[in-house]
Amino acid sequence: MDSTYSKVKTGIPGLDSVISGGFKSGRSVSISGPPGSGKTTLGLQYLYSGAKDFGEPGVYITLSQNIDEIKNDCKSYGWDFDDLISKDKILMIDARPFKIQDDLIGKDDSLYRGEQLPFEHLTKLLLSSIKRVEAKRIVIDSVTILAMQYSDKFYVRQGLQGMIQALENFGVTSLILSEYSERDDYPVEWFVTSGIIHLRHTRKADTMERTIQVTKMRGIKHSEQIHPIDLDSNGLHLLHPRLMP
Ligand SMILES: Nc1ncnc2c1ncn2[C@@H]1O[C@H](COP(=O)(O)OP(=O)(O)OP(=O)(O)O)[C@@H](O)[C@H]1O
Ligand SMILES: [Mg+2]
Repeated sequence: MDSTYSKVKTGIPGLDSVISGGFKSGRSVSISGPPGSGKTTLGLQYLYSGAKDFGEPGVYITLSQNIDEIKNDCKSYGWDFDDLISKDKILMIDARPFKIQDDLIGKDDSLYRGEQLPFEHLTKLLLSSIKRVEAKRIVIDSVTILAMQYSDKFYVRQGLQGMIQALENFGVTSLILSEYSERDDYPVEWFVTSGIIHLRHTRKADTMERTIQVTKMRGIKHSEQIHPIDLDSNGLHLLHPRLMP
């Protein structure tokens, strides 16, 4: 096992043991899966445990759900984000490119100011947020809506690569959430992040089985197995993690 880099505890019971102890500090990892597979839960659990158990402040930036809804949903896991926010251990930012106006959804030009450079704008927003709480952890939920806006794949790749490079230079360990189903092409973020964690739910008899699989983790020996997971009142955990040799 390589012990020359520091490890970041994931806060997901069972996950550290299948990635040789945790994420590589200062790197970025894609968390990908279909709707309801647990991406947001995994991201919030990583931030909550980081701030509460490991003394590592975090920033959560949403590009899809609204923050009140997210904080409220977290109560079903017993996570009190308002308490951590009031202590400057967590910052939650709404960077959705849409807003509700007259009960209709419209593009939010005030946020991106109609800019041609949303990645640059978002990166600046992230870096100033990191400074505010001295964040060590970041979750972006999710980058899919950004990528969808542009037909120019080179622009999206360059924008994501620049954003991720800036986060790595700042030494934060980032989770980049993204929407993915097996029918899709490989999303661009998979190529620019250091790791990929794949969440799935598949039909099993008259219910569904939830799983997690690490499909890429640069520089880390990791399990290649598909591990069953469970979501319960404590969040997400691996059911039978097999320890790495
Ligand atoms: N307290 C709880 N106990 C058990 N399972 C829960 C609990 N709260 C939510 N869930 C499950 O978690 C699922 C939501 O997971 P989550 O929002 O993390 O998925 P997601 O991958 O982010 O989905 P999306 O792509 O729609 O954003 C719910 O559909 C529900 O099945
Ligand atoms: Mg989600």
